[in-house]
Amino acid sequence: MGTRGLIFSSALLLLLLARTVLVISATPPFACDPANPSTRTFGFCNTTLPIDKRVSDLISRLTLEEKIQQLDDETPAIPRLGVPKYNWWSEALHGVSSWGHGIHFDRIIPSATSFPQVILTAASFNPDLWYRIGQTIAVEARALYNAGHADGLTFWSPNVNIFRDPRWGRGQETPGEDPVTASKYAVAFVRGLQGDSPTGERSGQLMTSSCCKHFTAYDLDNWNGINRHIFNAKVTAQDMEDTFQPPFKSCVEEGRATCVMCSYNEVNGVPTCADYNLLTKQAKKEWGLDGYIASDCAAVDYMYGATHYAKTLEEAVSYALKAGVDINCGKAMKQHLGSAIQKGNISESDIDKALSNALSLRMKLGLFNGDPQKLPSGDIPPSQVCSTQHKNLALQAAQEGIVLLKNNGNTLPLVKSKITSLGVIGPNADAPPSLLGNYNGPPCEVITPLKALQSSVNNTRFIAGSNVPGNVTQIPEAVQLASSVDYVIMFMGLDQHQEREAFDRTDLVLPGMQQTLISKVAEAAKKPIILVLISGGPLDITFAKDDPRIGAILWAGFPGEAGGSAISSIIFGDHNPGGKLPVTWYPQEFTKVPMTDMRMRPDPATGYPGRSYRFYTGKTVYQFGYGLSYSNYSYEFEAEAATSIYLNNSLSPQATSNDPNTLSYDIASLGFHTCGELKVSAKVGVKNHGPMAGKHPVLLFSRWPSTEHGRLVKQLVGFQSVHLEAGESTKVEFPLSACEHLSRVMDDGRRVLDKGSHFLIVGDKEHEINIVS
Ligand SMILES: *[C@@H]1O[C@H](CO)[C@@H](O)[C@H](O)[C@H]1NC(C)=O
Ligand SMILES: *[C@@H]1O[C@H](CO)[C@@H](O)[C@H](O)[C@H]1NC(C)=O
Ligand SMILES: *[C@@H]1O[C@H](CO)[C@@H](O)[C@H](O)[C@H]1NC(C)=O
Ligand SMILES: *[C@@H]1O[C@H](CO)[C@@H](O)[C@H](O)[C@H]1NC(C)=O
Ligand SMILES: *[C@@H]1O[C@H](CO)[C@@H](O)[C@H](O)[C@H]1NC(C)=O
Ligand SMILES: *[C@@H]1O[C@H](CO)[C@@H](O)[C@H](O)[C@H]1NC(C)=O
Repeated sequence: MGTRGLIFSSALLLLLLARTVLVISATPPFACDPANPSTRTFGFCNTTLPIDKRVSDLISRLTLEEKIQQLDDETPAIPRLGVPKYNWWSEALHGVSSWGHGIHFDRIIPSATSFPQVILTAASFNPDLWYRIGQTIAVEARALYNAGHADGLTFWSPNVNIFRDPRWGRGQETPGEDPVTASKYAVAFVRGLQGDSPTGERSGQLMTSSCCKHFTAYDLDNWNGINRHIFNAKVTAQDMEDTFQPPFKSCVEEGRATCVMCSYNEVNGVPTCADYNLLTKQAKKEWGLDGYIASDCAAVDYMYGATHYAKTLEEAVSYALKAGVDINCGKAMKQHLGSAIQKGNISESDIDKALSNALSLRMKLGLFNGDPQKLPSGDIPPSQVCSTQHKNLALQAAQEGIVLLKNNGNTLPLVKSKITSLGVIGPNADAPPSLLGNYNGPPCEVITPLKALQSSVNNTRFIAGSNVPGNVTQIPEAVQLASSVDYVIMFMGLDQHQEREAFDRTDLVLPGMQQTLISKVAEAAKKPIILVLISGGPLDITFAKDDPRIGAILWAGFPGEAGGSAISSIIFGDHNPGGKLPVTWYPQEFTKVPMTDMRMRPDPATGYPGRSYRFYTGKTVYQFGYGLSYSNYSYEFEAEAATSIYLNNSLSPQATSNDPNTLSYDIASLGFHTCGELKVSAKVGVKNHGPMAGKHPVLLFSRWPSTEHGRLVKQLVGFQSVHLEAGESTKVEFPLSACEHLSRVMDDGRRVLDKGSHFLIVGDKEHEINIVS
């Protein structure tokens, strides 16, 4: 080795040393350091004691002023007890995020795996994938924490509000319009993120804490000057029970989420963060929330500052604390709890209750168990963040979600070897931010669609056509390009300029001159073009659906860091698309409906069309659950599928109904035991007729003989993803419970089971099941 080599390697050694020192010094400050003789004796540090004992020991050591300081999201350290500061607010919607205050990216860990925005991941209808994404995010979060990049492990994700209106700017963050899908998404993702097993067993320490938000009926941000801080959502008992609450109930009861966040809006005149019945009675007592309730950020301030529901800020914090809020996002508790106590609105025991929920959770995360490196997750190294395995999962998620909307005459897939030149046009072809959606983190690396296509076809030429979606400036240049290449692929749609937090759309059509650009390009191109839509919410693209010069259409959501590779793999047939739309795509005329009308059910008297595939029977551009594939699949109900469920009449309490023609049984009075007996299994045969192997989600719906008395058009009751080779078939079994899957909700909110006919639906096949007594 020459001198130069020696100098170089010592420099390297120094660098390595410096890095080691940095990593060591970056160990997060922690409570209950065994090396600190004073903290060693504290009861709250004694891990052999039960958590409630440790929590009451810690609370007993705090002054009133210290307690008050611990109830906002940014809590200060308590140096005399060796307790470090804690930031409650972090986000992990589709990857560890830089939004919030708890996570810090820097030179050592500059990024994290950026999965597709949730609406696209939902389109896979694959709970196993949802679980693995949650689990992967948790591993990266712990790696960040172990390296001193996190002063919080409480993530305010997922967003499981129902995507009620296609214009909602935050619809992109949700699993869509269907409560069953949203519930299953919540359960799978939360179990993954908290480190539980896929079936819900907890091994001991929580990996992270997950929070279901925004509780509840929150799905309007800012539409026609009406914003979420003042919006009073008027919700019927019926819609509440069968649309808005199910994802939250599942999230807490089955997912065992350790947090629920109350929302900005009011529900029927009461701010959700001031609603005792909602927060304490329902979430904490009825559903058994074992964790804490957070307020949305500044929601408590808005109770006074925006709606004047509270007459003072002291009153606002009192309402929130009494209703069941444990952690306030903002500074309201710090600033106003003291005087609320002095005025007698709040007692110290109210504060102790909230603090006890909050501190218990920090203990369950292992944050009072001494040296973080000795925790069960203490050895997860920084190299786990953005590992190849994690990046591959981001690619898989995008591939499984992307929906093939149109494929005339097998326009797709393209055969790489036959392409001599490719024209790529559109503002979303080479713009990394437009792939990431909102609540994102810094991605490991972004492969844009343009980059991915260029690496497959050497002669690829590109023109953006517009600088942001909507602002089309280069029509002649785009037309020129289109007419001079073999194939044209356009990347159009939306980005955060058109749909985002605090900003809803007013239109469903493509913004600005996009339609003109697409049509002109399609006209000029030598062959039918391929249109790729990047968007969270649905679009009215009827013109493209009907235009034979547009051969294929893909919807790619906001597909995350690997989105470009995923799109390219589908275009060239390396992946067979199987995603299905998790929302109804309405025509533009739907925008006549006020976004503020919360009703799910139609009202024929006034022409109100209702919302979602469950109630809306008007024209659609594409239906919920729609999605093509390069293969053809067929379904059959198996011959042995049950046709009757026997309800022992003498066991059943009195029948009840809002429908004079049907006998219905109240589920609550049927009871757990009887409901447990009313099971049926639906077996469905699925065949892939080729020509390609593919993953295919099988969606099973149920319906009633009529839609009278508020019955649904249909309801998704189960879904399973199967992988089938070309020509292969399999059987999928759906275990169903009559009380859960065949029941409906009456206008007073009670759930009932109708005697008589029910129908199961898969594809174009139906199977009748009779409930007899
Ligand atoms: C921890 O608590 C256990 C059970 O009360 C007790 O036996 C033990 O002495 C405590 N340890 C310390 C270090 O105080
Ligand atoms: C707070 O206390 C004042 C004075 O006793 C009372 O008028 C007010 O209604 C109380 N507010 C709440 C939210 O308890
Ligand atoms: C692209 O060009 C490079 C070098 O010019 C060549 O090695 C490679 O095979 C080409 N790839 C394709 C897909 O044509
Ligand atoms: C649209 O593009 C023009 C020309 O580049 C530019 O001057 C204008 O600011 C853009 N408008 C928006 C909303 O981006
Ligand atoms: C394949 O799809 C076509 C078009 O939807 C349909 O007409 C045909 O019956 C399908 N074939 C099979 C074997 O399912
Ligand atoms: C219905 O329940 C009653 C009371 O338990 C029992 O005597 C009867 O045999 C049951 N009938 C059927 C058809 O299961």
